[in-house]
Amino acid sequence: MKGLIPAAGRGTRMRPFTKAYPKELLPVGEKAVIEHAIHDMREAGITDICVVVGHKQHAILDYLGSGKDLGVQITYVVQDDRNGLAGAVKAGENHIDGERFAVVLGDNYVDDKRALKELVAFHRERDMDATIGAFRPEDVTSYGIIDPGEGNLVKGLVEKPSPEEAPSNLGISGMYVFNPVIFEAIEQIGKGKGDEYQLTDAIDRLREDGYRVGYEEIRGSRIDVGTPERLREANREFALRD
Ligand code: G1P
Repeated sequence: MKGLIPAAGRGTRMRPFTKAYPKELLPVGEKAVIEHAIHDMREAGITDICVVVGHKQHAILDYLGSGKDLGVQITYVVQDDRNGLAGAVKAGENHIDGERFAVVLGDNYVDDKRALKELVAFHRERDMDATIGAFRPEDVTSYGIIDPGEGNLVKGLVEKPSPEEAPSNLGISGMYVFNPVIFEAIEQIGKGKGDEYQLTDAIDRLREDGYRVGYEEIRGSRIDVGTPERLREANREFALRD
């Protein structure tokens, strides 16, 4: 299985740091948060990884290089139009080349390294077309939210709903496993929340079209370094674990 790490966003909520470098290079513990994502993949046996870059892209190349020192092989793809997460995933389509693949967002820190491996196993065993790693966020308005159905199947998805609109308190964690049919779904969606092409909408489109979309709560805790508070929290979590 191949891996894809989107790392092209402008990181507006992390300014001023992201005026100079991408948020994926913010440190959690002794390494950049994107290196934790690479580590998650390696632990899941995924060593052929496509990193989608955009904003301040050269800094990511300088940090990760070919991936040799991290025990993986990295291919870089540029997302020219920064128009959302769905566009970033779509940018990697040629590299994925018709295979099943795992996605870990480049700003995600997950403290239990078995999380992705288990998600991949769930996807295979349950014969899913898309599997979402889920978690329980305190603030539903900052995440994609899942409407959970029978047998870990998804009944619906809403990107960053208001508290009233949220169908549950089960959030999208930033770890996914997809069959290549997700690329077709991405082509079919229009712009969504924040005037961007949302991966959440593409996954929901798959479900509407009758594909098997499931979720599994990931092991351990996870934090994305999307805001200064969450960056501090990720480092606190890391220090406690260390
Ligand atoms: C993205 C996804 C969202 C998910 C989140 C996890 O949002 O769109 O569904 O819950 O990552 O970190 P972003 O944080 O890029 O706005």
